Amino acid sequence: MKAFTLALLLSFATLTSSAQVSKVSFDATTKVFRLDGGNVSYVFGVNSRGELQQMYWGGRLGATDTFPAPKPKPEWASFDDSYTTTPQEYAGWGEGLYIEPALKVTFPDGNRDLVLHYASYKTTEHGFDVELKDIEQPIFVTLHYSMDSETGVLARSATIENRGTESVTIEQAAAASWALPAGHYTLNYLTGRWAGEWTLNQEPIQHGERIIESRRGSTSHQANPWFAIEAGTPDEEHGEVWFGALGWSGSWRITVERDQLDAVRVTGGFNPFDFGYVLHPGQSLETPIFYGGYSAHGLGGASRELHLFELKHILPRTASTRGAEMPRVRPVLYNSWEATEFNVNEAGQMALAEKAAALGVDRFVMDDGWFGQRKNDHAGLGDWYVNPQKFPHGLKPLIDKVHSLGMDFGLWVEPEMVNPDSDLYRKHPDWVLHFKGRPETEQRNQLVLNLARPDVRAYIFGFLDKLLTENDIAFLKWDYNRNWSEPGWDAIPANEQKEVYVAFTRNLYSILAELRQKHPNVEIESCSGGGGRVDLGILRYTDEVWPSDNTDPFDRLTIQNGFTYAYTPQVMMSWVTDSPHWMNNRSTSLAYRFLSSMQGSLGIGANINKWTPDETALAKRLIAAYKQVQPTIVRGDLYRLISPLNGSEFSATEDVNRDKSQAVIFAFIHSTQEGRGFPLLKLEGLDPNVEYTLSSIEGKASPNTPTTASGAWWMNHGLVMDQSFRGDFQAAAFRLDKK
Ligand code: DGJ
Repeated sequence: MKAFTLALLLSFATLTSSAQVSKVSFDATTKVFRLDGGNVSYVFGVNSRGELQQMYWGGRLGATDTFPAPKPKPEWASFDDSYTTTPQEYAGWGEGLYIEPALKVTFPDGNRDLVLHYASYKTTEHGFDVELKDIEQPIFVTLHYSMDSETGVLARSATIENRGTESVTIEQAAAASWALPAGHYTLNYLTGRWAGEWTLNQEPIQHGERIIESRRGSTSHQANPWFAIEAGTPDEEHGEVWFGALGWSGSWRITVERDQLDAVRVTGGFNPFDFGYVLHPGQSLETPIFYGGYSAHGLGGASRELHLFELKHILPRTASTRGAEMPRVRPVLYNSWEATEFNVNEAGQMALAEKAAALGVDRFVMDDGWFGQRKNDHAGLGDWYVNPQKFPHGLKPLIDKVHSLGMDFGLWVEPEMVNPDSDLYRKHPDWVLHFKGRPETEQRNQLVLNLARPDVRAYIFGFLDKLLTENDIAFLKWDYNRNWSEPGWDAIPANEQKEVYVAFTRNLYSILAELRQKHPNVEIESCSGGGGRVDLGILRYTDEVWPSDNTDPFDRLTIQNGFTYAYTPQVMMSWVTDSPHWMNNRSTSLAYRFLSSMQGSLGIGANINKWTPDETALAKRLIAAYKQVQPTIVRGDLYRLISPLNGSEFSATEDVNRDKSQAVIFAFIHSTQEGRGFPLLKLEGLDPNVEYTLSSIEGKASPNTPTTASGAWWMNHGLVMDQSFRGDFQAAAFRLDKK
């Protein structure tokens, strides 16, 4: 092991001192590293064997508290040695390790033993870079730690480097492992399917391993790379919660293990399934970032911390918001997909644009169908020229019209895909993911372009850049409507072809970054047939996401509820669409549809040509009311007051803005039974000493409700709804404003 370079007994580096003082420290005597941010402390150190050992992750400790040097855990029996019982920060697969390794490699001579020991460290702006090295081989791993001073969210990742003279194959590489002491815990994670994303699963953590993953080449609808672990049983506002989210939009995996001694470890990063990455001499591999946080205030507290972190540190800024603390609120948009599907043309889109502008919409988005020979989903993907039959004069007349109506213009694209019935595929059949000579599996009649290839990357960047240069486009809806099959890449040596899993996603990110740099005001939505590509990796480059193709306003209550455990309502696009809804053939009032959508970033996706004057007037009023409170809804603190899950008769949410001068409350009834009134809504997060005035956005409070009362009143006495608030699919919304 290398000697410590630091001569000082104790060295402190004090970082950003905004509201909370955040600090990183290294004690050279005990070899203990400590990071403090928000209400969180994270501590690890070098044990007597030279391994990096996790020591503490939880509520913030006193500034003068110190730790002795970490000791490896004892061997439990000859079957569970100390290597496997000691919680390592980043364990190589070697020695006697039986739990999930962070890193597994094969050396050219067939040796697969990897034992990572501490080598050196460097203090960085918000944390540490800690270098580990195999006990013999020149494989180095630098662990990056960076803690947010306000929320205590810790960003962790690893750089794996081959400083030897021979190539090494990486078979498994995590971003980080997180450890919790022996105890009883509940695991929360999100699963789903197309049109049914964001199901919250809650289960006790049992012995063995629970795997949450995507093997599909992208994030997936089926599981999302987020977890939250509660001490004991689930609770929305109380108790300790450790949570994490992986910033990776390719195949990923998170494992949650409870070992034989009841300790829990979470390891996440690239999915090792079909993984293989050859590190030639001098080369390195960066893992994705795994973010982790802690709250003592239940799942609600955990999601509020994560939302704030996403708003401030993940989401991109445009030229006009560069340096701003928060991204700008999303423009209220209109999208014609559900109204017209592929049947877009100049006259039809112009007519819808006129109607949309009259409602108070800020952004008009034309969806699928405008390009190539795209009449349905059988043809056209890959041919990104404007369809001359539908738009004989190009896009300019429509864009000019949209601008003249005071809106900006957005356009749908699906850059990574190709239909076999396209000029692009006919010219470059080898550009798709495929195994030579094997059938190519189509899904939605399309194939996936191999974005890992430099020529494909150049083509995709080229057409998007041209589109944005030649047209005044403010927004791209970037769609991705299938998962991978046959992920072959035969243009490179056979032993390197599995690198497609890394190279594809890296090229996707690099295209997004380059486009944003060249067109610094353009905004982008990540859509993948709904919520199939939502994670903290893509959110670094996209301003919003499409959580689900399911826009049924009742289904959306549970979909959106699940979504907000991991992601801020700022990015949660939510359209008001037609009734009866295509998904469930359910009829709901326009007000109900609006209030469901107003819990996120509002859009309209209905056929507004068919709206009656009354419906148009209601929509206009609610859009105006929404805009007045939108910053509180999308950037405030979210409290899930009554959960819509488990067939609940009722549900309610509350958003409180950051200076506690405003709150917005949404209440929904599924179906009143036995005349039951809506439950008393005890509000949260207000300033008890401030007077707030209640006003209705939609619906009525009980006649006995004071117009103005203290925060203490609204939180302790609570808001009573009017007796008339009963029936099927009812909704009400209120705002409280500091007097
Ligand atoms: C899937 C998206 O989620 C929809 O909103 C729509 O854009 C279609 N693709 C278009 O093909």
